Amino acid sequence: MNSKNKFRKYFREYKWSNIFAMIRNSSADPEKCIEEFHNRLVVITGATSGIGYYTALKYASHGANLLCINRNPEKSELLCRKIEKEYGVRCSYETADLSNLNDVFRVSEKLLNSATPIDVLIHNAGVYLTKRILTPGGFEKVFAVHYLSSFIINYILKDKLKSQEKARIIMVSSEAHRFAAWGLRLDDLNWEKRRYSGLKSYGSAKTAQLLSMIVFNDYFRNSGVTINAMHPGAVKTETGQENGPVYKWFKRNFLDKTLKSPEISAEALYYLGVSKNLDNISGKFFNLTTPEEPAPPALDQDAARALWDVTLQLTGLNKRNTTTR
Ligand SMILES: NC(=O)c1ccc[n+]([C@@H]2O[C@H](COP(=O)([O-])OP(=O)(O)OC[C@H]3O[C@@H](n4cnc5c(N)ncnc54)[C@H](OP(=O)(O)O)[C@@H]3O)[C@@H](O)[C@H]2O)c1
Repeated sequence: MNSKNKFRKYFREYKWSNIFAMIRNSSADPEKCIEEFHNRLVVITGATSGIGYYTALKYASHGANLLCINRNPEKSELLCRKIEKEYGVRCSYETADLSNLNDVFRVSEKLLNSATPIDVLIHNAGVYLTKRILTPGGFEKVFAVHYLSSFIINYILKDKLKSQEKARIIMVSSEAHRFAAWGLRLDDLNWEKRRYSGLKSYGSAKTAQLLSMIVFNDYFRNSGVTINAMHPGAVKTETGQENGPVYKWFKRNFLDKTLKSPEISAEALYYLGVSKNLDNISGKFFNLTTPEEPAPPALDQDAARALWDVTLQLTGLNKRNTTTR
């Protein structure tokens, strides 16, 4: 199906009631969870700033041990020392640039071979770029950081998590997945044939992540492992710092003034990771903690299967042995 026909198909599937629900949900506060999480292990990517930072503190304040996957060792060191000092839990980190698939494979294998069970795995790291940048491996960077890295980690860990019989995966998604209104262009995942746009590439990467959730959810069915995605609210963070001065000026002087504190995102990510209300709830998209229906392109089962196959080939996962060593 060409992209024009796909757009028509998705457009027919849009329900205005979902758009109104999204607007309504965006002003709601997250549910709170007061249960403790002592001695459990939470793995989180991108914990050195914004949502990831506050989420790491939130879990630590309830007794969880943290393993952070960050690209900046100095910031990671400061974060872990602060967490250990203030909350008396263990905090360690792995340094990995998640746009570099060699780093992603290295940390995934390390997690796979660790004897410690992972209770909650949070894919949070992300970038917003106004210009197309290619990674050393030749992938468009937003697609690599948001989608490929989370896919590879999930794929490599999937049997380990299943064998634990209990774990929760949470992907920090975005309402901005709705910007991929025409659906995912499987023939141009690297933005070589189209004009690049920050919103569209970001929307596509988040849509790809939501499509992968469909297949992982099938894989984990009845195993005790759940996988969900969430929009963390519109919150003030360091996002967009890799862009030029005009974008940063606009963000500082306009966007940031309308945004909330990332503490609400941390509250929601704690609830989704720990609350008993979420036991066995899987394959869902939440706006903070309110269940919501994603846009039609992110629910397309055929696209999800096709993307899965393409991703295995692109990443070389189809040729890798991913069993625990
Ligand atoms: N802020 C919002 O309103 C909003 C709304 C919807 C969705 N989100 C999503 O929320 C998540 C967190 O974003 P944020 O707003 O908290 O932004 P942020 O403050 O910029 O934090 C992003 C985190 O990801 C890390 N990161 C970026 N690129 C990386 C790479 N190549 N390898 C490893 N780590 C990398 C950053 O590391 P450094 O500290 O080294 O830069 C930082 O720790 C993202 O997935 C974003 O798409 C945010």
